[in-house]
Amino acid sequence: MTADRVTGPTIRPRRLRSTPAVRRLVAETDLAPRHLVLPMFVADGIAEPKPIASMPGVVQHTLDSLRTAADEAVRSGVGGLMLFGVPRAEDKDAIGSGADSPDGILNRALAALRADLGDATVLMADTCLDEFTDHGHCGVVDDAGRVDNDETLERYAAMAVAQARAGAHMLGPSGMMDGQIAVIREALDGAGFIDTALLAYTAKYASAFYGPFRDAVDSSLQGDRRTYQQDPANRTEALHELELDLAEGADLVMVKPAMAYLDVLADVAATATVPVAAYQVSGEYSMITAAAERGWIDRRAAVLESLTAIRRAGASIVLTYWAVEAAGWLNER
Ligand code: PBG
Repeated sequence: MTADRVTGPTIRPRRLRSTPAVRRLVAETDLAPRHLVLPMFVADGIAEPKPIASMPGVVQHTLDSLRTAADEAVRSGVGGLMLFGVPRAEDKDAIGSGADSPDGILNRALAALRADLGDATVLMADTCLDEFTDHGHCGVVDDAGRVDNDETLERYAAMAVAQARAGAHMLGPSGMMDGQIAVIREALDGAGFIDTALLAYTAKYASAFYGPFRDAVDSSLQGDRRTYQQDPANRTEALHELELDLAEGADLVMVKPAMAYLDVLADVAATATVPVAAYQVSGEYSMITAAAERGWIDRRAAVLESLTAIRRAGASIVLTYWAVEAAGWLNER
């Protein structure tokens, strides 16, 4: 080859991949601990943290172990904590009374963490009845066995006020009832909690990937949630839900699950005028964990790739059971 004659392509995208430094310089997406939110489970009536068989590495916490783990999470730099409560089986009932009782496990845990942590993190609470009902549905069931939307809204309003009173900064209504954001906003404002923010589960699909979570919360559910959660076949419908949640006053919106719904996430992120979150759910966690345990994939690389992909698709915030571990890796870099 002579100097005045070039053979082969002149445009070579590989130039920008040639060293770690140039790749770092041109990376379009970044991932930092602050983007990650750790979902945590706190159970009533257990003396020791209890491993969740289908989610190796994740436990149901006691109130004490929750406090220690929350402190560690905050020190790792994660952006927030999302709490789920697991009541004792004998405390569940048809309307999920434990959800809005100040003595319910979730409200006690919120109060304890808010006292420990103050405003050092964003303390979030799952606002949904499913952990607290004896039938396991996200709402109140009528005589015909249907989840009654409007009766359920009254329960959500009471639960939301109880959670705000206990100390949550942000609520995550995850039940997919129509009108839930408007009703909860009105209840919070009426009780003086004007600064308690709403992270709306805007597009939440009826997904098989929640399987391990149902173990995690000792779910009582028989059947499925297809009359309230979205059909995995639908994409445009997510934008309808987005319009409604924004009109009702959502402060942030979420898509869930994450990895099988990146198209929906990208659509929502393209239109939303508020921050967008995505929830990398239990089944996503367990699949990668199981494959890595078998030596079939590189765990750390797969976790970081999955989180980066969720960010790339449009999530500002990612809820992930790896939040603290991933924050540790990111802090090493
Ligand atoms: C309902 C709720 C669920 C999850 C979060 N909130 C389960 C469901 O809808 O059945 C799933 C989270 C996960 O799978 O990690 N309160």
